[in-house]
Amino acid sequence: MRSMLDGRTAVITGAAGGIGAAAARVFSAHGARLVLADVDVEGGRQAADAVVKSGGEAVFVRADVTSENDVAALVREAVSHYGRLDCAFNNASVDGETAPLHESTRENWERVLRVNLTGAWLCMKHEIAQMLRQGGGAIVNTSSVAGLVGLGATPQSAYFAAKHGLVGLTRQAALEYAGQHVRVNAVCPGAVRTPLLESAIRAEVITERDAVSYTPVQRLASPEEIAEAAAWLCSDLSSFVTGQAVPVDGGWTAQ
Ligand SMILES: NC(=O)c1ccc[n+]([C@@H]2O[C@H](COP(=O)([O-])OP(=O)(O)OC[C@H]3O[C@@H](n4cnc5c(N)ncnc54)[C@H](O)[C@@H]3O)[C@@H](O)[C@H]2O)c1
Repeated sequence: MRSMLDGRTAVITGAAGGIGAAAARVFSAHGARLVLADVDVEGGRQAADAVVKSGGEAVFVRADVTSENDVAALVREAVSHYGRLDCAFNNASVDGETAPLHESTRENWERVLRVNLTGAWLCMKHEIAQMLRQGGGAIVNTSSVAGLVGLGATPQSAYFAAKHGLVGLTRQAALEYAGQHVRVNAVCPGAVRTPLLESAIRAEVITERDAVSYTPVQRLASPEEIAEAAAWLCSDLSSFVTGQAVPVDGGWTAQ
């Protein structure tokens, strides 16, 4: 039986840990050949090695998504290695400082917007250019429940603004390319057990109990549960889905 990403080439950013590393395992299990990108070279190489050890195909490229040169080189690497780029999971992110808006710094605002929003825009710019050259493709951006609703208990205005912006960017890009066989969607995870959430718990941005209490299914997600949704959105099984911000949040935003 064919797997849903058989023969597809996928770029995954933020692939060194958490949801990105889980996506490497999940996309590979569904048949994709991977180019993994991150600024964390050790974690990124480990993620690629793990895929190769389990019989898949993956290369790691050090790429900072805020650098247009790095992003252009990343897409070129996918094409030179595998001949094409079918899917992209733009997932790299930083959460930035936790402080009420009036006490937060402009440096933090600019850094979080640069990585989480400009970085995704740069990735899409180069990925879409390649997808148009070859006749189509599918892009999935990682937004968040923080891209759909606010949360007073978590003072991270830059992160929430960037993730909301990413939903708008996803919708607009989907419409600009809807007639050219490029689909663009976002996944909006709720609370997922990853290094990002664990550091937020350590920094007392959020308690695990609170994260669970926002979640009707009463538990955290595994990173694989988010990765499976992204893999589906990258595959032809979701061929009529574009411009959507899909909550994968255990019911958080249904309340
Ligand atoms: N963990 C959660 O509960 C949760 C909830 C909602 C949304 N998300 C989103 O899911 C995505 C993955 O988060 P995670 O929890 O796996 O976090 P994580 O911190 O484990 O992963 C983020 C990755 O992005 C990489 N990165 C940071 N800046 C980069 C840059 N400039 N260029 C390239 N790579 C860079 C980091 O090195 C890291 O490997 C993020 O977009 C995050 O906002 C996570």
